[in-house]
Amino acid sequence: MEDKQPIQSKLTSLDQFKSWAKENGFIFPSSEIYGGFQAVYDFGHYGYYLKENIKNLWQKAMWQERDDVVSLDSGIFMHPKTWEASGHVGGFSDVLVEDKKTHKRYRADHLIEDQIAEDSFEMPNFSHIDDEAIVNALEKKDMDKLTPDQLATIIELLKTKSPDGNDLAEPRNFNLLVKSNLGTTDATFNEENVTYLRGETCQGIYLNYKNVLDNLRVKIPFGIAQVGKAFRNEIVARQFVFRTREFEQMELQYFIHPDMNDEVYAMWKEERMKWYTEVLGIDNASLKFRPHEKLIFYAKAAEDITYNFNSMGKFDEVEGVHARSDYDLTQHAKFSGQKLDYFDQEKGERYTPWIVEASCGLNRLVMMVIDHFWEMEKIDETGDGKRDYRTVLRLPKHLAPIKVAILPLSKKEDLQNKAHEVKKMLQSDYMTEYDETASIGKRYRRQDEIGTPYCVTVDFETLEDNAVTVRDRDSMEQERIKIDELLNYFGDKI
Ligand code: GAP
Repeated sequence: MEDKQPIQSKLTSLDQFKSWAKENGFIFPSSEIYGGFQAVYDFGHYGYYLKENIKNLWQKAMWQERDDVVSLDSGIFMHPKTWEASGHVGGFSDVLVEDKKTHKRYRADHLIEDQIAEDSFEMPNFSHIDDEAIVNALEKKDMDKLTPDQLATIIELLKTKSPDGNDLAEPRNFNLLVKSNLGTTDATFNEENVTYLRGETCQGIYLNYKNVLDNLRVKIPFGIAQVGKAFRNEIVARQFVFRTREFEQMELQYFIHPDMNDEVYAMWKEERMKWYTEVLGIDNASLKFRPHEKLIFYAKAAEDITYNFNSMGKFDEVEGVHARSDYDLTQHAKFSGQKLDYFDQEKGERYTPWIVEASCGLNRLVMMVIDHFWEMEKIDETGDGKRDYRTVLRLPKHLAPIKVAILPLSKKEDLQNKAHEVKKMLQSDYMTEYDETASIGKRYRRQDEIGTPYCVTVDFETLEDNAVTVRDRDSMEQERIKIDELLNYFGDKI
């Protein structure tokens, strides 16, 4: 008989994703008991381990499997001049407009560009405008890099409204760096002594370039890589953990001779894409490079690795691979008054190294991996022909937060004791979980949903034959294995 029931196979919206992640203990919205705290999320038990597994794989690819990259864990706070040198204090800002009624905030350039892209849009006459930048922007339909005043002129000309149809307040610059009063008291704090939470982790790498060079016996080409939190006062942060105000970055900065730029840039593009397909197991077809449309003035090349998010219905950025020239070290040398160059003893040549960076967002990778491996499917596990559905997170085993779940068939003390014995035997080698609540079928579903590759069921026969049933998440096939062979069995499988 033809199956008329719809089978939803992938996550189809961010709302669905958010509810699933909360209900399954992966990601919780921050501060819910106080009514929530926008654009910050907390990672629950399973989300935390998934994140840690991805982080460890990145660190392995960067540090353990290479001879030319060293690690670093720099502070979240740095000297405030860091952010002047980097250009963040002057330039790391978006122009923001507020809906006068709802007080929701939007990026002014995006609102105008969305309006122009509408089918019904008709461009009004703007021959009376003599500001060349505004004329250019209207002709090219590209509002990037305009000042708040210029954007205000365009909003007035186009009668731009908020997405809710309301009038907009005056556009204003909104710096994305998060300020703090570290090291000051209320009485001494002012705009002059403000310190910032880091807006990107790589600045800590540039500040330690000289320390690493002088103390770690590195030679160009070499890289410094680190993982850590970054903070940005994002204006529009309504995309779950895709864009948040506090997030984790994993960044590599690779120091090179300028002549090596093209070759090294191509090498890192290839290496990073391979990591997504070969290590994280993402399909080739779900990933693509997207070159930056506008290169920032110092950049020699810049492309994003984008992933096709089912839950957002589009490809979007998970990582940037950028050729940054000598900009970073030159700027920090200028602002600090220190020499940040490199002397090649063999060639007798002194120069400021160029940098190729690979920078990705760990939270986005957690989101990508769940989005990619989440499936809802129709199954008939019991073989009785009754329709049944399961959600299964088909994570590669090395990514799964829990590797083995131990499930006693009933709450009889003998079975509980035996199951605890099995757990004890496995838990020093694997992340395990013991579960005795609900029916065995429901417990299998729960483990499928959080991506656990194997369930071990301890039943009454176990007490006789000292063997357990091992169920495979993907095939749902079951095998009878002797308890004293389990460690070898999983050693081969996981
Ligand atoms: N050092 C270069 C740099 O920070 P970026 O493109 O601004 O470049 C790099 O950020 C990566 O960090 C992005 O590809 C993204 O994965 C992640 N990221 C940036 N802003 C984020 C945010 N607000 N929330 C979550 N992840 C973010």
